[in-house]
Amino acid sequence: MKHFLSINDIDSLPHWVEEAIALKKNPYQFQELGRHKTLCLLFFNNSLRTRLSTQKAAKHLGMEVMAMNFGKEGWTLEHGDGTVMNQGTSEHVKEAARVVSQYCDIVAIRAFAQLKDREKDEAEEVLNGFSTYASVPVVNMESSIAHPLQALADAITMHEFKTKAKPKVVLSWAPHPKALPHAVANSFTEMMKLQDAEFVITHPKGYELDPRITQDCPIEYNQEKALENADFVYVKSWSSYSEYGKVLSQDSNWMMTQAKLGNAKFMHCLPVRRNVVVEDSILDGNQSLVIQQAHNRTYSAQIVLKKILENL
Ligand code: CP
Repeated sequence: MKHFLSINDIDSLPHWVEEAIALKKNPYQFQELGRHKTLCLLFFNNSLRTRLSTQKAAKHLGMEVMAMNFGKEGWTLEHGDGTVMNQGTSEHVKEAARVVSQYCDIVAIRAFAQLKDREKDEAEEVLNGFSTYASVPVVNMESSIAHPLQALADAITMHEFKTKAKPKVVLSWAPHPKALPHAVANSFTEMMKLQDAEFVITHPKGYELDPRITQDCPIEYNQEKALENADFVYVKSWSSYSEYGKVLSQDSNWMMTQAKLGNAKFMHCLPVRRNVVVEDSILDGNQSLVIQQAHNRTYSAQIVLKKILENL
């Protein structure tokens, strides 16, 4: 594996999960692997978990880490080919990616969807620009359409907490005052397609995800029906895909409550808006796995960095 851009860059999800759990037991066992190697983290958007867990993962492997808030502090990048750069952009990604490659051995990028132009978002110009022109491997720390480090951490968490070979897992849409991207829901769905599980997606009509991603996944518009006998409930807000980037509903009936959760484990990637997406009692109770998921972000990043370092 050169780049880690999508959950489909994982050759065997069960093996990676097992290996990540072994790393968790002994995080410093490969600290020589990253000696004299540098990871550069470029953030075009905010972060708490991704920034700190990826740094921690790199440190476990003995790497040096540099982080830059590119979106706020870097030059505005141009991505078009042949553009006459006499407007707002200052540096072409062709130079920027090659220059960053002079300072590090792996570059990790966070660049969210803008949710204005679907075609533009799906072109993934920042992530693809860097993976095309950088001379070092690129790691996706959440792009317009994918958040594979989160999905891998979720797979690790479900493996740790499942009590049956084939659990029922429900991805349940939640209301949110802001239009949010589809990346987490997309990668979670892609990851679930690699699992031995009964997987159901539930959301109001109009909130269908990209059908190329949800192909073969059951969609149940009745949330309570979808939640019946669930073992894990993964709650996430996203904006409409068909009416791209629009908030079509803020129906608070879709908020996750203790009554609807039943005996299932609650999952969310965080950050989460309390009493909008999920009621307090769930997050404050012992069915919530959100802190364990955040903890496992370190080991999902560590297994990805380890695989890349082994191929340098
Ligand atoms: N879940 C997640 O990616 O968190 P941050 O946006 O805080 O990094």
